[in-house]
Amino acid sequence: MRSTVHADDVDPSVSAAMAELAAEQPVQHITADLAEVTELPSADLVLACASLPFVPRAEFDVLWDAVRRALRRGGVLAVDLFGDRDDWASTDGTYLARPEAEALFEGLDLLSMSEVERDGASFAGPKHWHTYQVIARRSQSRPAAFSAR
Ligand SMILES: C[S@@+](CC[C@H](N)C(=O)[O-])C[C@H]1O[C@@H](n2cnc3c(N)ncnc32)[C@H](O)[C@@H]1O
Repeated sequence: MRSTVHADDVDPSVSAAMAELAAEQPVQHITADLAEVTELPSADLVLACASLPFVPRAEFDVLWDAVRRALRRGGVLAVDLFGDRDDWASTDGTYLARPEAEALFEGLDLLSMSEVERDGASFAGPKHWHTYQVIARRSQSRPAAFSAR
């Protein structure tokens, strides 16, 4: 069975490259602002590299709720999040202290969580990066409250 990849990006210039990809692969791309997303297609893998933290804090919780609901049982969530010591933490986005980041994965099996701090480069010049790279899985089993029924 071939899986479909659903891809979202707010930048319309991405869509040409995604259309080329979609000609050969089962990819469905939409130009969408994740800050406005309330539902996502159910998925065995949700992958977001350096994209979710650009969603403002006020909208992030709704998006995160959609991400978690989209994850099927046994599904894997692999995301980059930004930490509160990132140089961009004063800009609009979601920058989390470690306990806040950990709390997002409560109820999931945390497979790995790497906190990285380093001075490096960005498109806007030199930058101090503070990120969490997290892989988590939704349990295969139903919560105990349901299994008795
Ligand atoms: C730093 S790039 C990362 C690109 C790619 N995921 C990677 O790891 O190489 C951030 C991407 O997130 C997208 N992005 C930023 N804010 C977004 C938003 N609110 N909704 C959807 N996409 C967004 C940008 O257009 C850009 O493609």
